[in-house]
Amino acid sequence: MKIAIGSDHAGYELRLLVKDHLEGHGHEVIDVGHHSPAPVDYPVYGRLVGEAVASGQAELGIAICGTGVGISIAANKVPGVRAACVSEPFSALLSRQHNNANVLAFGARVVGPGLALMMVDAWLGGSFAGGRHAERVALISQMEDERTRD
Ligand code: RB5
Repeated sequence: MKIAIGSDHAGYELRLLVKDHLEGHGHEVIDVGHHSPAPVDYPVYGRLVGEAVASGQAELGIAICGTGVGISIAANKVPGVRAACVSEPFSALLSRQHNNANVLAFGARVVGPGLALMMVDAWLGGSFAGGRHAERVALISQMEDERTRD
């Protein structure tokens, strides 16, 4: 699978670990940065991950900042993105099965590396359940369509 990954400075080290993990499992990773631990603005990287997914360059995206909150808010501003900010594997899995989340976000200051990789694996291991959930996700897309219409 092609997966975009991005983080700010707070998520820098965890991003490298997640990237290695994904590549070790045969995924192709599009790393949108940030490429050092120097302070940067998380919205830039949330947007880059979101745009990689929305454009089809990547099938899914992973976004990491200190809490996962800021970078998920930014990614969710890209039309077509459904970013889920999670801190345990159950929500990570359900975000895929019920919400068809196409971006997973988490906080490097919230979860440790082991938990982060568990969440990533749970999320990637799930698939969208469709059915009644598809109707609900369609309602979200409808809201987006209404707002992006001129
Ligand atoms: C950076 O200090 C921090 O604010 C950022 O990584 C993130 O937690 C924002 O939501």
